[in-house]
Amino acid sequence: MSSDAKPTRGAPVKSINLHVGEIEPGVAKVDAIIVADNVTRTFGGLTAVDVAHVEIPRNAITALIGPNGAGKTTFFNLLTGFDKPDTGTWTFLGKSLAGIPSFKVARLGQVRTFQLTKALSLLTVLDNMKLGAKGQKGENMFAALLPWLWRKQEEEIEAKAIVLLEKFKLDTKSEDFAASLSGGQRKLLEMARALMSDPTLVMLDEPMAGVNPALTQSLLDHILDLKTQGMTVLFVEHDMQMVRHIADWVIVMAEGKIVAEGPPDAVMANPAVIDAYLGSHHDQDLGEDDPETIHAMKELLDADDES
Ligand SMILES: Nc1ncnc2c1ncn2[C@@H]1O[C@H](COP(=O)(O)OP(=O)(O)OP(=O)(O)O)[C@@H](O)[C@H]1O
Ligand SMILES: [Mg+2]
Repeated sequence: MSSDAKPTRGAPVKSINLHVGEIEPGVAKVDAIIVADNVTRTFGGLTAVDVAHVEIPRNAITALIGPNGAGKTTFFNLLTGFDKPDTGTWTFLGKSLAGIPSFKVARLGQVRTFQLTKALSLLTVLDNMKLGAKGQKGENMFAALLPWLWRKQEEEIEAKAIVLLEKFKLDTKSEDFAASLSGGQRKLLEMARALMSDPTLVMLDEPMAGVNPALTQSLLDHILDLKTQGMTVLFVEHDMQMVRHIADWVIVMAEGKIVAEGPPDAVMANPAVIDAYLGSHHDQDLGEDDPETIHAMKELLDADDES
């Protein structure tokens, strides 16, 4: 995030005292929305995810960070039913979700967005939004025979979509094909669409990636707003300044495992995190909220990617 995109309003209100006992990877939460145990996923000989235990705090914003290839997206895919684990169990609001397909997971109130946006290019923005609504009566064979039932529901869905599109400043684009949106607008559309189903947990995979700095502040505000409205947010992000700014809790993955977690300031001063991110570049301080340091860190990360 560029320095001119810094928040102009006061700092967000952080949720604190989320954990129970000593902070360590897998620490229990006072009120966990997700509890996962022994979740593994291998691709051939590669172990992409190997999470012994993790708990995601409810009604808080948790960042899942870690270097490229750490297993963050794969873990998201597993938790949301888009992929199947080799082993493991997890619960969402106390209900076991292992083996539940993605559309059912979404109906239960756990929605996600994708690192590479999945807006349907050849549908209009409004139609993309309508697809996000859950439990549409028109999907039900019996109800489909009773048009007055679903017509009323159609109207309600459309009204809701328009309110959300206004909120995300996409209302003037509602009749445009999603293909005509910029990358950042597609990210906004994906987030707005996720909210159509009144979720309890919103999982965002790199919501800021590719977003024009002019839009980043409004995206940050939208994410903070989700918590204010009582939702829980779990997001993957490489932008450490953004993580420090909005996350209440940070979980660090490296090579498939949870290697550290805690409040943002403590986590970013943790040597294990600096190791995971920067390898041998120990002199870099992830805790500095200073654009130059962040920039230098990103350069190091990029250099590591290329090597
Ligand atoms: N479908 C797949 N087939 C084979 N390997 C995969 C597949 N999906 C992921 N992987 C591998 O699993 C590991 C974890 O990938 P994943 O995409 O989960 O990482 P990530 O933490 O999301 O990384 P990034 O920050 O770059 O998005 C990587 O080594 C990746 O190459
Ligand atoms: Mg990823």
